[in-house]
Amino acid sequence: MCKGVYPPWDLLFTKVSLFLETVMSSWTMPQLPSLNEEKRTLELSGHVGLRSLPDQLVKRAVKQGYSFNILCVGETGIGKSTLINTLFRTIFENEEASHYDEEVKVLPRTYDLQESNVNLKLTVVHTVGFGDQINHVKSSEPILEYIDAQFKRYLEEELKIKRSLWNYHDTRIHACLYFIAPNGHSLKALDLVTMKKLDSKVNIIPVIAKADTLTRNELVNLKIKVMSELVSNGVQIYQFPTEDEAVAEINSSMNTQLPFAVIGSTENITVGNKTVKGRMYPWGSIQVENENHCDLVKLREMLLRVNMEDLREQTHTRHYELYRRCKLEEMGFKDPSLDNQSFSLQKTYEAKRKEFIKELQHKEESMRQMFVNKVKEAEVELKEKEKELQGRFERLKTMHQEEKKNLEEKKREMEEEMNAFNRRKVAAETLMGQALQGSSQQPFKKDKDKKK
Ligand code: GTP
Ligand code: MG
Repeated sequence: MCKGVYPPWDLLFTKVSLFLETVMSSWTMPQLPSLNEEKRTLELSGHVGLRSLPDQLVKRAVKQGYSFNILCVGETGIGKSTLINTLFRTIFENEEASHYDEEVKVLPRTYDLQESNVNLKLTVVHTVGFGDQINHVKSSEPILEYIDAQFKRYLEEELKIKRSLWNYHDTRIHACLYFIAPNGHSLKALDLVTMKKLDSKVNIIPVIAKADTLTRNELVNLKIKVMSELVSNGVQIYQFPTEDEAVAEINSSMNTQLPFAVIGSTENITVGNKTVKGRMYPWGSIQVENENHCDLVKLREMLLRVNMEDLREQTHTRHYELYRRCKLEEMGFKDPSLDNQSFSLQKTYEAKRKEFIKELQHKEESMRQMFVNKVKEAEVELKEKEKELQGRFERLKTMHQEEKKNLEEKKREMEEEMNAFNRRKVAAETLMGQALQGSSQQPFKKDKDKKK
């Protein structure tokens, strides 16, 4: 409370009471309209500006720009990059993938596109090395992780205290073009498994790639086979919406034509006196934007012109919502209506905090226990090593003593031998001396004998 001069409270109170009494005595209760009474429609005379509301929204949306993110899933070299280039009638940077990658990598690339005054931030996400590994068990993991990472990023932005969603670059995947190889009888096991895992996270639009390698009949049969396999395996692909009357007819007709058979090419060819995008063969040519030749134009129409906003909306209201709900439930949040109890953020936070601390303590305890066990194990190991070393030392010591004893024995024997030798030597020398002496006296004796 501020310090200073206090107002005369009793005087002020009397004045306020008098004022309230006067005001309340002049009041009459307003007559509320009965529930059965019809709603009033305001008749506006003249233009007040309500009609410009949509224009304001359009202006704001155009100013903000759009983001649209496409995920391309398909085997290496199936024609993903060529199709994206053909769809957007431009040439994006393109690196050829190797067939020898040990694992699937996800490679997002963002481009700023402009048509008239509309800016589009397009992100194309390539799946490099998909289908090249011998073991396909982990092929879809990096793709799913990438999709979840984008949802997580958006959720974190939403949960921030200072949010800036209005200029946030939304990287959530809006459409997944799933490329089906044209050279099989139907879908491969990898395709089915991957699509099943993806269908709750993205809007899947299946396409049959390089459709120029199939005859008309083969194409019809493959389309039927693919669709029946998707249905029998419960794979939910994106259905073009039919609620809006303006697009209901075209969308329902396009739903029956899925999967789209596409051919990609960025090359210009001359047909008659026209230059068109197409592919030249020894036996003729194909115009990729000719609806009689392939479904590329249908795909472009459905993906970009008619349903781009629905794809973005479905991503937000269906796929992201599911992710968000699971994540929030995981974090301990729940809706009050579920158990008729009022939901308290504070209580949830505290409960979660307690749970977290308990978990942390549990982890700490188990780590401590693990450490103690490890130390004990190391101690036992050390003791065993010490015992082993001691044993070795004792053995070496005994060996050393035995060797010393042997050597001493040998030394003694050698000394005895040497003494014996010396004795024999002395005896021999004595004998030799005597012999020499004897031989020197003998001639003298002989001489004497001669003289006699
Ligand atoms: P990676 O990114 O290396 O996995 O390949 P990718 O799937 O992006 O394939 P890419 O678009 O690079 O095309 C591979 C080869 O197929 C190129 O030689 C293309 O010219 C050719 N190709 C692309 N689309 C078609 C098509 O519709 N029909 C035919 N016949 N060939 C195509
Ligand atoms: Mg490519």
